[in-house]
Amino acid sequence: MMSMKLLVRLIVAALALVLVAVATGASVVAYAWNTADVDTLGRVDFDRPLQIPPLETGTVTADGTRVFDLELQSGTTDLGHGPGTRTWGFNGSYLGPTLRAARGEKVRVDVTNHLGETSTVHWHGMHLPAAMDGGPHQTVDAGETWSPNWTVDQPAASLWYHPHLHGSTAQHVYRGLAGMFLLDDPAAATTPAGRALPREYGVDDIPLIVQDKQFDGDQLDAGAGTFSNVGTLGDEILVNGTPRPYLDVTTEAVRLRLLNASNARVFDFSLESGMQFDLVGSDGGLLEHPTPVSSVQLSPGERAEIVVRPRPGTRDVLRSTPPDLDVDFFQKRFSGGDDSFDILELRTSTVLESSAALPERLTTFEDLGEPSTVRRIDLNGTNMINGREMDMSRIDDVVPAGSTELWEVRNGSGTHHNFHIHDVQFEVVDATGTREDGALLAGRKDTVFVPPNTTVRLLVRFGDHSDPAMPYMYHCHLLRHEDDGMMGQFVVVGPDDAARVDGVTDHASPGGHGTHGG
Ligand code: C2O
Ligand code: CU
Ligand code: CU
Repeated sequence: MMSMKLLVRLIVAALALVLVAVATGASVVAYAWNTADVDTLGRVDFDRPLQIPPLETGTVTADGTRVFDLELQSGTTDLGHGPGTRTWGFNGSYLGPTLRAARGEKVRVDVTNHLGETSTVHWHGMHLPAAMDGGPHQTVDAGETWSPNWTVDQPAASLWYHPHLHGSTAQHVYRGLAGMFLLDDPAAATTPAGRALPREYGVDDIPLIVQDKQFDGDQLDAGAGTFSNVGTLGDEILVNGTPRPYLDVTTEAVRLRLLNASNARVFDFSLESGMQFDLVGSDGGLLEHPTPVSSVQLSPGERAEIVVRPRPGTRDVLRSTPPDLDVDFFQKRFSGGDDSFDILELRTSTVLESSAALPERLTTFEDLGEPSTVRRIDLNGTNMINGREMDMSRIDDVVPAGSTELWEVRNGSGTHHNFHIHDVQFEVVDATGTREDGALLAGRKDTVFVPPNTTVRLLVRFGDHSDPAMPYMYHCHLLRHEDDGMMGQFVVVGPDDAARVDGVTDHASPGGHGTHGG
């Protein structure tokens, strides 16, 4: 039998262990808490000219198709930690060229993969057939070339491209695979708005691909903090791959095309001076009216076009201050909600070339019509939609071509998410809210922020490219969540496709094919 003395000693030892464990746990939390926030305001030496991604207008074939070349490749890039940082890029070692095409044009992109592993290239925001979309089904194996082609059929907009390999999107984008795809609209170019908006690429019309990165020594570090449930958050900023960038402004007005190409970070952009600027565009193109704001918040994948009029002979800084994530204080701390960054210095000349004033109306939106169906999308935890993880062999929703639907996207989790639908530009219904940049939600969007405990209602008109066998995606654009399965698949079907769709949904996993609509 165990002696009383031994028993007491064992109990004391056990208690001590518990105490040590609790103390260790507490100090881990305390340490993580203290190191979790980042603040670089006023601490960045802007010593490198902002790199402008090369403009690529491709070549036009005899039949009028505009052809682009994109080569996925690996290399090394100086991202501020020496020349040896291993990165991926398109036609170069980091990021890719800005592709540019016009409404009505036929385009083709010859995508060749030199990475030595499979990837895909998705045209985010583009209206096109599902088989050309570059989602997880259009894989491009090592050494292969994939040549999607389509006709540009949507308003002028700042779109972008990036890989979409299921389970690896976060890694591929983080290593550097992303670029902008600008669409022009020849008809809109001759309107007062078209003539007034700054439009000289690299001079007064500037793409800004904003990304946060963390480094381990001289290499990119894709790890995530212990308590982060959004994935990789960095403590340094790159704009177009440039660390500590400045931009020389030589015109009275400069148009900045902001793209949040981060894996997980939400930015709330403003100017150090507090000066207002005009919000003129969202994901899908121009807003109906320029709207003066002093900040604009973008979650991953979202874009905003702003027109800034810095005072001559001044320096100002584009910065990001703590975004409004609407999450609890713990979650906020560990998902970037307390962070501030200096992003880009604007160095404005004393003598400026004149720029036109913006007209009161920039564009007029098409009426999307009345919804025929209401579809419920529930974002669950950090990896599911409507209670299921993404399954490449399951079609989750079947949408009639040309139909208008109301999608009710509900976030019942404690984490913030956003929501992106391929192929369409939707209207955010009831986009009132109190956020100053509610103006952004008045524009056409393909990606929208969804804070916890909210429902965002989207009026979506689906296109005419039907294909019962090839799905488009919808998903959270926090890349970790997307990779973990917070994604679903929908097919757009024509009137004669219904029978074939039944064949597709026969492959559904137990639980059947979920139409959540009425
Ligand atoms: Cu920007 Cu489905 O992606
Ligand atoms: Cu997309
Ligand atoms: Cu998410």
